[in-house]
Amino acid sequence: MANKILEAIYARRSRREFTDEPVNSKDLQEIIKAGIWAPSGLNNQPWRFVIVTDAAVREQLSATTRYSHIVKGAQALIAVFLDQEAVYDATKDHQAAGACVQNMLLAIESLSLGGVWLGQILNNKEQVNDILGLGDRYELMAVVAIGHPAHRNQQSNRKELHNFILKTL
Ligand SMILES: Cc1cc2nc3c(=O)[nH]c(=O)nc-3n(C[C@H](O)[C@H](O)[C@H](O)COP(=O)(O)O)c2cc1C
Repeated sequence: MANKILEAIYARRSRREFTDEPVNSKDLQEIIKAGIWAPSGLNNQPWRFVIVTDAAVREQLSATTRYSHIVKGAQALIAVFLDQEAVYDATKDHQAAGACVQNMLLAIESLSLGGVWLGQILNNKEQVNDILGLGDRYELMAVVAIGHPAHRNQQSNRKELHNFILKTL
């Protein structure tokens, strides 16, 4: 495919198995930079991030989700928050956080890394904030687990396009 952006969108997969190779901090900064270039309502940029590479903290966080094996296996985690002091419209701010995370996932793939959006962990978001030393000003949106993929065999699928298009008028 000649269109690099479409190619990247279609080739991105959730990567859940990683090697022990660390993720360098320059790449983590680049991933966050891609995140903050997502659109946001009124350009309010409500997202905030916590970068976790420390094994002891990852271990603690792994206890907050049923996907503990992914959290432990990923050499880096980026927790994405909404800053309650920066938000202006709940729906639009949450949509912006989603756009931010998707940009991050695409950046991760483009850096030859792998990542997965972890949402189940939100069931214990207060516990996550406690572990990270954050108060309720910051609302957890997602944790992105990142690493060097152990393989790229993941398969995924989508229903046919016609299932989603309600009408063409
Ligand atoms: C809001 C949201 C929450 C998700 N939560 C989890 C999760 O907790 N654990 C997990 O392994 N994958 C999680 N995923 C990844 C999805 O399972 C994955 O995107 C989906 O199966 C499609 O696969 P693909 O990303 O490879 O195309 C989440 C994705 C989204 C958008």
